[in-house]
Amino acid sequence: MNPYHYLRPLLFRLDPERAHNRTLALLARMPSFMPRYHGGKPVELMGLTFPNRLGLAAGLDKNGIAVSAFDRAGFGFIEVGTVTPRPQPGNPQPRLFRLPEHEAIINRMGFNNRGIDALITRLAATPKPHALLGINLGKNKDTPNEEALTDYRIGLQKAWAHADYLTINISSPNTAGLRELQHGAALRELLAGIKAEQQRLTVETARRVPIVVKIAPDLDDTALHATLDTIAEADMDGIIATNTTLDKSAVEHHPHGGEQGGLSGAPLTAASTAIVQKIRAHLPHIALIASGGVMSAADMQAKRDAGADLVQIYSGLIYHGPQLVRDCLRQLERG
Ligand code: FNR
Repeated sequence: MNPYHYLRPLLFRLDPERAHNRTLALLARMPSFMPRYHGGKPVELMGLTFPNRLGLAAGLDKNGIAVSAFDRAGFGFIEVGTVTPRPQPGNPQPRLFRLPEHEAIINRMGFNNRGIDALITRLAATPKPHALLGINLGKNKDTPNEEALTDYRIGLQKAWAHADYLTINISSPNTAGLRELQHGAALRELLAGIKAEQQRLTVETARRVPIVVKIAPDLDDTALHATLDTIAEADMDGIIATNTTLDKSAVEHHPHGGEQGGLSGAPLTAASTAIVQKIRAHLPHIALIASGGVMSAADMQAKRDAGADLVQIYSGLIYHGPQLVRDCLRQLERG
């Protein structure tokens, strides 16, 4: 029996953002003596030992309020954020839409979050999880792209001591102009500054924290290869592929199909896996974390077969609940 089968219709009767906030608030209050689900096998990557290859993708727990609950669900790593230096409200509501006929979500949240100081305070008060913790960093909406490095540097400095790895998010479609940082001189200069800060903090703290870059699925081969070359030249530790897509052709006939924002879930699966495959072909040795449309254990295996070291889920959890985590972990034990 899968209890989520009964819970989902109740949650889906609520406005999506309300359902999200209520569920998170409930999970945040789950008692710490609840048993932890164990599954999968440990894996070494970027100098870290991940308890297993399955992770929670960024954006679900932006403020890190329910890390212990996700830890107990069995995830091998949990990525909180995107967090910005200063708190910000995000875009006006409604900004989150379910497309159940497509097992999809469109969101234009716009980095609503309580800011890095609140996140760090929360994490400091959270019992150390068994799962590794990633902190996904963004820039504030009102920080111009030319000053983006300042925001990411603040994020690196404040998150450093609290994270097992850090993610540079330059691929959200919901902060105007952010995705322009994925290209050319803007990317080169940003990553050079981030690398320098990583080296400085490593010496200062005598502890190295790997940094990964999260990219969009909406890059043609030329742009993708240029971005990958720049990431490799900047000696970043890894890549997360991918964020949500702006290509909504697969859902154009749905009542919500024309909403502004990024599309995730089942319509993203194949395109995102194709990007993973191209990255692996271009950069055989880089640490590669797949994200995009993992709705089943078979989807997760397809990401692994395409060359992903680790796999994250978000929309799949909304549509299938914690059973998806268990299914994936069981598959990882076989694979
Ligand atoms: C996201 N995602 C996201 N990614 C990120 O790097 N920072 C963020 O703040 C968010 N916020 C966010 C909110 C909502 C409502 C959704 C649905 C998604 C993207 C997410 O981490 C993931 O990369 C994509 O959703 C693709 O994976 P799934 O959902 O198809 O498994």
